[in-house]
Amino acid sequence: MPATQLEVKNLSAGYGATRVLEGVSFSVSAGARLAVLGRNGMGKTTLLATLAGQTKRYEGSISLGTTDVTSMPSAARAHKGLGYVPQARCIFPTLTVEENLFVGLKGRPKNSLEEAYGMFPRLKERRSNLGSQLSGGEQQMLSTARTILGRPSVLLLDEPLEGLAPVICEELMAAFAELAKTGDMTILLVEQRIQSALDFADRVIILERGRLAWTGTPKALSDDHDAVERLLGVGGLH
Ligand SMILES: Nc1ncnc2c1ncn2[C@@H]1O[C@H](COP(=O)(O)OP(=O)(O)OP(=O)(O)O)[C@@H](O)[C@H]1O
Ligand SMILES: [Mg+2]
Repeated sequence: MPATQLEVKNLSAGYGATRVLEGVSFSVSAGARLAVLGRNGMGKTTLLATLAGQTKRYEGSISLGTTDVTSMPSAARAHKGLGYVPQARCIFPTLTVEENLFVGLKGRPKNSLEEAYGMFPRLKERRSNLGSQLSGGEQQMLSTARTILGRPSVLLLDEPLEGLAPVICEELMAAFAELAKTGDMTILLVEQRIQSALDFADRVIILERGRLAWTGTPKALSDDHDAVERLLGVGGLH
């Protein structure tokens, strides 16, 4: 049995007085791939942001490996191995692609950049361009590559495929699966492309108005037509 890498207990959180998440509990083992699904506005981004320490938490706890990170600020969680690629991309517009990537290295040698360039050849072509000169899809790649370079033990990805061409989506999902396969990286993926998420994940949770409404395997979800229609608003999965 692999060790539990992320444990969330009875988590309630939101923004100021606005409660969004209510009593969410789940755990993810080391090297696992968890898809976080749900219709728009159901709390997926809020869940990842809360794990990263960027919302107001009312109740509950979050553990990363054997460390309770509940009271830690964002930067300390990142230091403990939590990597977050937010839905709103944050790259440095006045730095070049390469300089943006240096920021993600966290003290690793500079030749580690080749890992990012291997995953995203497009970034290598544009290494000298400023962040502000990148297309939306390229910014997306840069934001993701920078976080992965820091070798997080838990990687939180909020719609990493948004704005990317289909062929790149497939390559990227394959690259994420490869990262998880080593067992060193646990990945939580929020994704609207349900089939892509299910092909990637080994477990699924679905949020409904900030609560955990369904949990199981991708196969069980494909077979549960009621849950698919009620919680995801789509007619069926193949
Ligand atoms: N900064 C904020 N302040 C107050 N309420 C917010 C804030 N951000 C999000 N919300 C509210 O929290 C709820 C959940 O939003 P969240 O962004 O987590 O949903 P989501 O599942 O990621 O949706 P989407 O699929 O559209 O990205 C929504 O009702 C939203 O209006
Ligand atoms: Mg969102």
